[in-house]
Amino acid sequence: MHTIAVLPGDGIGEEVVRESLRVLETVSAITGFSYRTETYPYGAEHYLKTGETFPDSALREMKDHNAILLGAIGDPRVETGYLERAIIAGVRFGLDLYVNLRPIKLYAEHLCPLKGVQPEQLDFFVVRENTEGAYVGLGGLMKKGTPDEVAVCDMVWTRKGTERVIRYAYELAQRRARAKRVTLVDKANAIRPMDLWTRTFEEVGREFPEIEQDHAYVDAACMWMVKTPAWFDVVVTSNLFGDIITDLGAMLQGGLGIAASGNLHPGRVSMFEPIHGSAPKYKGKNVACPVACVMAVQMMLDYLGDADGAALVENAIASALRTKKIPSLHAGKIPTDRAGDVLVEEVKAQAG
Ligand SMILES: NC(=O)c1ccc[n+]([C@@H]2O[C@H](COP(=O)([O-])OP(=O)(O)OC[C@H]3O[C@@H](n4cnc5c(N)ncnc54)[C@H](O)[C@@H]3O)[C@@H](O)[C@H]2O)c1
Repeated sequence: MHTIAVLPGDGIGEEVVRESLRVLETVSAITGFSYRTETYPYGAEHYLKTGETFPDSALREMKDHNAILLGAIGDPRVETGYLERAIIAGVRFGLDLYVNLRPIKLYAEHLCPLKGVQPEQLDFFVVRENTEGAYVGLGGLMKKGTPDEVAVCDMVWTRKGTERVIRYAYELAQRRARAKRVTLVDKANAIRPMDLWTRTFEEVGREFPEIEQDHAYVDAACMWMVKTPAWFDVVVTSNLFGDIITDLGAMLQGGLGIAASGNLHPGRVSMFEPIHGSAPKYKGKNVACPVACVMAVQMMLDYLGDADGAALVENAIASALRTKKIPSLHAGKIPTDRAGDVLVEEVKAQAG
């Protein structure tokens, strides 16, 4: 029996998580995937009511689950980034979820804003380092609000942190039946300490002689992702650059309405989430697209070893999009609950 911590969070989080759990329930009835969920209240409502963001006890409890499903965190009534740092970064850093895995895959040609790109030409993973870089919180403001104000933000990379995420990327390329290529994306020409990434990439790469070592500076990588996305197989990059290029990747695959990620520490409890935020303007309106969160469930099933269940969900999403039963990944084109109905029906149809 798997136990899954569910954190619906804020804004549209609750609605997209609700539909995703319906899909999970349907899959479970077909494949026998056995699970129970425990729902946690953390987010803006809970904070405004109790003053509590994300207690240590919750983090300790999360360690005893097999996976965490997160909706979204963030609410305009609370200072920008406050809850996001406490809860999302709290889980990522607290559980040492060092891989942020982002599939960038096109399921139907009409979803891609680039002319003439076919689904088989857009199918790669970004492996983003998830516990270091610019997001470690080192730095601050001095003489705030004065003409002499100083802002400092340090980026931190350790040999260990860099090595483990790069090794994960090579292993992923080894498992995939694609180009067997890993592209290191950095900015080591302008940020010289990123030379740590360059050397580690080469050294770890020697353990994987069958995998091609490729490299692009982050600015050029953005250009190549648009110009020739078929080139990419597995991309490995730092926390900040990964955060940025995965939104570009999301647009290539159709928008934030489909993009999901796994925050992983292989072999340990890991967290799955849509990459979009809480889209406060759509909260409670039944217009948000639940596909990204359902895709997060697909990644979670795969991680927890239910490959059949994961394939059912992926095929259901692909079919719903190709047939335009879900006509768009943007808000308001189909009600959230109706999109959930479609995905439940598609999962059943896929199972025959
Ligand atoms: N992992 C997270 O929980 C996460 C990620 C990003 C932003 N945030 C937070 O979310 C809040 C809003 O941030 P934002 O506006 O920059 O990003 P957002 O992802 O919430 O919204 C960006 C745009 O995409 C649209 N959108 C997002 N998800 C959608 C969906 N499922 N269906 C249809 N349209 C969708 C929104 O309406 C908006 O136009 C902020 O508090 C931010 O800090 C949280």
